[in-house]
Amino acid sequence: MSRQDSIGVSEAEIAVHWQEEKLYYPSTSFIAQANMTDATLFDRFSLDNFPECFKEYADLLTWDKYWHTTLDTSDAPCFKWFVGGRLNASYNCVDRHLAENRNKAAFIWVSEQENEPDVVLTYQELYVRVNEFAALLQDYCGLKAGDRVTIHMPMVPELPITMLACARLGVIHSVVFGGFSGRACGERISDSGSSVLVTMDAYYRNGQLLNHKEKADEAVHIAASEDQIVKHVLVWQRYPGKYSASTPMVEERDVFVNDLVKKYRGQRVEPVSMPAEAPLFLMYTSGTTGRPKGCQHGTGGYLSYVAGTTKYVQDIHPNDVYWCMADIGWITGHSYIVYGPLSLGATSVLFEGVPTYPDAGRPWRIAERLNVNIFHTAPTTIRMLRKAGPDEPNKYNFNFKHMTTVGEPIEPAVWKWYHEVIGKGKAAIVDTWWQTETGGFLCSTMPALHPMKPGSAGPAMPGIHPLILDEDGNPIPAGAGKAGNIVIQNPWPGQFQTIWGDRDRFVRTYFGKYNKNAHSTDWRDWPYFPGDASMQAEDGYFRILGRVDDVINVAGHRLGTKELESACLLVPEVAEAAVVPVADEVKGKMPEIYISLKPGFTASKEIEQKVIQAIDTSIGKIARPKHVWIVPDMPKTRSGKIMRRVLAAVSNGMDVGDVTTLANPEVVASVKKMVQGEGGEADFYG
Ligand code: PRX
Repeated sequence: MSRQDSIGVSEAEIAVHWQEEKLYYPSTSFIAQANMTDATLFDRFSLDNFPECFKEYADLLTWDKYWHTTLDTSDAPCFKWFVGGRLNASYNCVDRHLAENRNKAAFIWVSEQENEPDVVLTYQELYVRVNEFAALLQDYCGLKAGDRVTIHMPMVPELPITMLACARLGVIHSVVFGGFSGRACGERISDSGSSVLVTMDAYYRNGQLLNHKEKADEAVHIAASEDQIVKHVLVWQRYPGKYSASTPMVEERDVFVNDLVKKYRGQRVEPVSMPAEAPLFLMYTSGTTGRPKGCQHGTGGYLSYVAGTTKYVQDIHPNDVYWCMADIGWITGHSYIVYGPLSLGATSVLFEGVPTYPDAGRPWRIAERLNVNIFHTAPTTIRMLRKAGPDEPNKYNFNFKHMTTVGEPIEPAVWKWYHEVIGKGKAAIVDTWWQTETGGFLCSTMPALHPMKPGSAGPAMPGIHPLILDEDGNPIPAGAGKAGNIVIQNPWPGQFQTIWGDRDRFVRTYFGKYNKNAHSTDWRDWPYFPGDASMQAEDGYFRILGRVDDVINVAGHRLGTKELESACLLVPEVAEAAVVPVADEVKGKMPEIYISLKPGFTASKEIEQKVIQAIDTSIGKIARPKHVWIVPDMPKTRSGKIMRRVLAAVSNGMDVGDVTTLANPEVVASVKKMVQGEGGEADFYG
């Protein structure tokens, strides 16, 4: 991948020069077994049949009380789905499978330590453990429907158990990715108003047993500084009966769940029948401004949408072994490890570790041993595995019928390696485009109905009706060869309900650009703007080009540039900071940081380290910059704005364009020399 192909000042401009790829067709054997082979599906989900078409997804669930109104738009754009209906998510994911599938594995957990045995959790065991933990949450913590609980845990069976125990009580869970720092967790505790934090003492990553409990102490401290008091810290143990962290437990506040839950042995908690529109969970995601947004997902709409898309797009059958290698701490894990697969009674593999430890053959050994036949991961992982062991998959005897890619655009060359080497030229691939906010897939091929096109997500999902608009709101037709802003014309059940505690920001961010009548209760006036640029080929396939705002997509996860810049400014020597995305062979994009120092300080490795440390503590290692450049000054407009566009061009070895109108054009040359060296060539993948 050359630097020029991979990133640009304007991504849209570059993408239009990408060539169309040839189509790949699903095999006849795949089609013969697929869950969805009926092309009239798309007629049933046409705009004429909206919103009633979504009854088809809702009928995959068990309702305590059937709804009377499919879509209520009276508080648009906070849409309510399946109003009047009542259900419980934990009942739908666990209890209702017992009669037929009590002994079936819900999860097969694989430790990062290759010599440790798997933990198989049957639906019966899941039922028992969810009930006992729900009893603890209710009795010991006094939690009830509508309360929030923050969960900061690694990839262990206790994580979905905790989520489902919350859902059983109608308690809203907010899972924070385990790799996030204590500070990031604390801010989310405070925003969500959680008085209970569920965590774990330790977990394995790259062969190291990491102390995770210490993050809980920091999180509680940060939350307290924002006036949110955490009363209970519930600590699961990685090795039950043994404490694996060196951080002391805090008396009264901290308790080992493994001990305490024994008191609730055999207890059953009646699943609380929740209104369809009651919030099920919050999932925080980055936006253009500093504060992460708590995306609030509802119960009935969300669960219907993930059940429907899991069945048809993930194509899971009762006897399949499905492995989504995402982390449950992201939306992919919520929708397509926990709620989607469990609502269908499927068997999922849960993996604790990193895919390249101890070597790049690890995922393929797991797939071979467990006979995984549906595999789900992100382009960044595919690139990493390809780089670390391009021929590794050939050494193992595994066979995927179906594979997913999610989280960021996949380069056609990487897609082809995925198809040929991992999919052995046979697997059907779905490139699923969606977001934390959307709950489930928006665009993807329907695996037995559509051919695949490397680099393109494909057509829209049933019942999703996208359009590409220019800045003025005029549609850009398919095949125009021009990119624009993709919008979804209609609401759908998986769509998030609001930003927790900030309805105005919700309306402004996602609907402000194209809504013309703020008082309208007609859904047609509220196209949803996800913030991505896209172009539509003549055949209707959408190619997603990336974010249009100030968000960097690192390894398939959104990081707000403002969040990173604020972290840099915590270092006392730093005067100004600018964060730009730089192309990276494995992660897609990485943040690169430019800082200038306050007068009296000189550049040093030590300051660089302090900046990296500040990012690690404020956000987590996932946000680690590729480089920190300490520059004498930032290129600025005459009005004093830092020209991030110019810095991004320098970082990516591209033409900086005309800089003569800047307040300090000479700075550009010196920054360029520093970053790209005398010859003008950056140490690109160094
Ligand atoms: O820019 C799009 C990109 O990831 C963003 C959503 O990130 P997040 O909320 O963290 O959710 C990731 C998992 C769904 C989108 O706005 N994105 C996601 N999937 C794709 C993608 N870009 C291109 N192709 C995809 N398949």
